[in-house]
Amino acid sequence: MSNQIIAIDGPAAAGKSTVARALADELDALLLDTGALYRAVTLLALRSGTHLSDGPALADLASASVLQVTPPSIPDGRFYDVSLNGEDITWAIRDPAVDAAVSPVSAHPEVRDALLALQRRIASQGRVVIVGRDTGTVVVPEATVKVFLVASAEERACRRHRELASRGVDTRLGDVLADLERRDRIDQDRDVAPLQAAEDAIIVETDQRSVGDVVAAIKVMAERAWHPMAARHARGR
Ligand code: DC
Repeated sequence: MSNQIIAIDGPAAAGKSTVARALADELDALLLDTGALYRAVTLLALRSGTHLSDGPALADLASASVLQVTPPSIPDGRFYDVSLNGEDITWAIRDPAVDAAVSPVSAHPEVRDALLALQRRIASQGRVVIVGRDTGTVVVPEATVKVFLVASAEERACRRHRELASRGVDTRLGDVLADLERRDRIDQDRDVAPLQAAEDAIIVETDQRSVGDVVAAIKVMAERAWHPMAARHARGR
């Protein structure tokens, strides 16, 4: 066994963060949601008025900042804390303005490069669940468990709409669906690290499955990868 890294990728609102939080809790693992880093750079860009098409300037913003993703410090529904130069930006990066701007920001190779070392550093800290679009293909291709979560666009839009409503953000379901489909297109079509399943990833369809069910299935994959003898023994072989 070379590492205890679980890489979970998939399109927006496929349930990655919810599944990953529960999985990390059950396995006593660190959780790194890499989307939070791209969102933080986007927030920085919006605040500073940096043009979203200026990749080098956006990368400079990222490199000049201290970004941290740490376990949740407040029980307000957050899956983790995100801080930018010491400021808690956990909820600020969930603003619809960030949603609308994050895909073009994350498509710049300079931005991706600027965030890669940070992601790898965090992923090297032991047992880690890492979530994103390119974690199994680019960030930690050595991960021993790779999962690609999928769900229909309609199901994903309903989930995102419900999540926004629970935080008091008023949106129309049709607008949420259109925004998700637009982001999927940008994430899939970009030249660098596009959204795609790693060749050795297990595709997990989440439309008709509960979070608990998906978490249990990934846990079994991890147990088999990390303790193959014990897993075989438990199956009576
Ligand atoms: O998972 P999310 O919706 O918080 O991600 C926000 C954006 O960041 C998403 O539109 C694509 C981008 N992203 C990426 O390009 N690569 C990652 N590993 C994670 C996210």
